[in-house]
Amino acid sequence: MKHKSIYAIAAMCCLASVQTMAQKTLGEATKGKFLFGTAVNMQQVNGVNAAESAIIASEFSAIVAENDMKPQPIHPAEDRFNWDNADKIVAFAEKNKQTLTGHCLIWHSQVPNWFFVGEDGKPATPEVLKERMRKHIHAVVGRYKGKIKGWDVVNEAFEDNGSYRNSKFYQILGKDFIKYAFQFAHEADPNAELYYNDYNVETPSKCDAIVQLVKELKAAGLRIDAVGSQSHMHMINPTVEAAEASFKKLKAAGVHILITEWDISILPSPYEGANISTNFSYSKEMDPYRDGVPADVQAKWNKRMLDMFNLFLKYDDVIDRVTVWGVTDNGTWLNGFPIRGRMDYPMLFDRNNKRKPIVDQMIKLAKKYKTIKKK
Ligand code: XIL
Repeated sequence: MKHKSIYAIAAMCCLASVQTMAQKTLGEATKGKFLFGTAVNMQQVNGVNAAESAIIASEFSAIVAENDMKPQPIHPAEDRFNWDNADKIVAFAEKNKQTLTGHCLIWHSQVPNWFFVGEDGKPATPEVLKERMRKHIHAVVGRYKGKIKGWDVVNEAFEDNGSYRNSKFYQILGKDFIKYAFQFAHEADPNAELYYNDYNVETPSKCDAIVQLVKELKAAGLRIDAVGSQSHMHMINPTVEAAEASFKKLKAAGVHILITEWDISILPSPYEGANISTNFSYSKEMDPYRDGVPADVQAKWNKRMLDMFNLFLKYDDVIDRVTVWGVTDNGTWLNGFPIRGRMDYPMLFDRNNKRKPIVDQMIKLAKKYKTIKKK
């Protein structure tokens, strides 16, 4: 009798702890719906920033390199690759049993200039650039074959109005540079998922251009699994309706969706809808919360986070992953972009590495949704 009751109590405790465990992190609460990831840097991966390193290991089911797999850091000279950091990120993901995404193969930014320089300092010919893309993609994707679930193959090829960005890739190869990139990535790892990734995907003209690209890639027999919507958001834009409209269009185009770089800046936006690559100068009015965020503004941000997360959950039949672009308010890129030296509060963890109250609300919301899928 005595033993029985001890076992009963032990079983109850166990059940209770399993239940709290089940709702402990967003990574766990979203299991079966989508992966919940974050971008990582080397201070975290090397454990120099031990607090953030621990948060990443326990709270997220997926990671992506914030910078270290981009062409500039990984392939700084034509005959030289820096594999050290990327290798460590792969090992970090393996150790923490997290799904790893590759970011990114072809992008106009953070790409070394040697790609585009031909003989005598003249612009590279189309043949030379295409061959360099092939070698770069084969080397990087090939090295991590089987270890990376999918790649952001091409990043930010469109302007918001839907025209092609006038990047050096576009200038030299025309729009076919995108097809080449997808072809080379598939050759290098036939099992890897392949993604097109961009910001302001909620802008209708840009979304339409991406849908057209998806159709063209598919018509050419090329693999594309998903479109990454970066989702760098502000306090007003994009609206939930605009985000939902973009999801509907992408879903109808027969691709899955990834929320790849989610953050909601709490600061005034110097552009609503303008080019995200523009830089702006500092002013106090644009940096109003150095001494903390007023309660009404915080409440507005919380609601926006929850509304967006609710939308992601609603589309969990096609959304495979939601990744936030950073861990704490301390480390967010938004403190330096698009205006340097501001104090932003866009992350799920605060400047003392403490989980914000919004996370519990998100976990509760995730648990409310029935799991549907997945392929
Ligand atoms: C950003 C990083 O967060 C910064 O650390 C870096 O200085 C610049 O790039 N779109 C992308 C990301 O696809 O790679 C960018 O990341 C943010 C915008």
